[in-house]
Amino acid sequence: MTMPDASRSAVMLGIFSGLVSSTAALCWSLTGFVLIVYFYAYIHQNDKQDIVYSNHLVDTRKLEKVEEEEEFHFTPAKDRRSPRAIKRKGPRKPTSIIQEFLDDSSQVHAFFFPNKKTAISPIKEGNDSMHFYPGQLWLDTDGNPIQAHGGGILYDDNTETYYWYGENKDGPTYHAHESSAARVDIIGVNCYSSKDLWTWTNEGIVLPGEETNVSHDLHKSNVLERPKVIYNDKTDKYVMWMHIDDANYTKASVGVAVSDSATGPFTFLYSMHPQGCESRDMTIFKDDNGEAYIIYSSNDNSELHVGPLTDDYLNVSGFMKRILVGRHREAPALFKHQGIYYMITSGCTGWAPNEALAHAAESIMGPWETMGNPCTGGNRILRSTTFFAQSTFVVPLQGLSGIFIFMADRWNPSELRDSRYVWLPLTIGGLPDEPLDYSFGFPHWPRVSIYWHQRWRLPEGWRAEER
Ligand code: GAL
Repeated sequence: MTMPDASRSAVMLGIFSGLVSSTAALCWSLTGFVLIVYFYAYIHQNDKQDIVYSNHLVDTRKLEKVEEEEEFHFTPAKDRRSPRAIKRKGPRKPTSIIQEFLDDSSQVHAFFFPNKKTAISPIKEGNDSMHFYPGQLWLDTDGNPIQAHGGGILYDDNTETYYWYGENKDGPTYHAHESSAARVDIIGVNCYSSKDLWTWTNEGIVLPGEETNVSHDLHKSNVLERPKVIYNDKTDKYVMWMHIDDANYTKASVGVAVSDSATGPFTFLYSMHPQGCESRDMTIFKDDNGEAYIIYSSNDNSELHVGPLTDDYLNVSGFMKRILVGRHREAPALFKHQGIYYMITSGCTGWAPNEALAHAAESIMGPWETMGNPCTGGNRILRSTTFFAQSTFVVPLQGLSGIFIFMADRWNPSELRDSRYVWLPLTIGGLPDEPLDYSFGFPHWPRVSIYWHQRWRLPEGWRAEER
């Protein structure tokens, strides 16, 4: 049977319009589906953000707990002079707690350098696992005390691993000259790796000292201190900067080394005076936009200088800005939070501890303002001595915004290899309580606080991907 033309075109039109309307319906349903999925994802994402945010607050509060300590009561160390000398010179003048701390025969010294029995070991599972014990001996995964003094930490995106670089001081302590500072020959820069910032595996000496060539910057009779490493995304190199000096600290230079791998070996390039100036305690800082800066104590440690590195991070470029002029600060540790630059520094008293100061700036090139002593909790003496330690680095934590780890060295100048690490939580926020540089008493900056804890840990699953 054949269909008349009119009816055929009516049917075709029907089919066509049916097709059009079902395609439109399909399109609308798809759009609706996509919108619903998007909406759900959006809500879900907000949920997740809320959880992270509230976890973050809980975590911050725990770390911000103010732990007070009793004031110290110690019996002063015995007068070790002969009875004749005592008679001749009279009884010993009362000593300060810092002098006692530096005297390896004193109770104070023994208190601040607890022996091996209390060492913290990642090999021993138990209650201490993942807990930081500021000042106690800290062992690596081989069971040896960690040797990474004056150090700094690099988080390597390529391997999602933390690397801790620092001075290996595992040699005898001696004085090169009667009046010079206690020292250890250059052994080299050690590197340790970790995923959790607590369990550290020794990756060995990544930049060794030089044994025979006396004219080499790294000859063992010289000084290599405060090594710091950053990664250059453009050149794919790991670049190390460090303080290079002679035994009397008169060379006052900065050294540069480079490697293809975070675990070395690093090739030493040269030492120099940045822009012709002295450089002693120093650090480097890589900004969010990939630009890197050096900051060092200069002009007899009376001021700090800050300036940009070249694009390959192998040299200084442009000009250096003089900051905190006349303040005599050293041991700079720089970090950034919500667009503001912060820095912790120490006073210049050699291996002896002194009071830390926090500084802040809107531009890394300054002006820098001084906020006050960031140390919180403990007791008056602990706070006025940076917990008997000296700043070296501030570690940003992946996934925990606004919380950092303050890294400091508790130097033991009678046995430098036995110097300890004081790691404490540092947070930014809250009202400042010791305004120094503020105009008309109105604070410009949120407070930086370093919280004393005898024992503490990072919140479980603190790394973003673990949350
Ligand atoms: C400190 C400095 C240390 C080391 C020491 C030597 O002032 O921060 O890194 O150089 O002096 O006495």
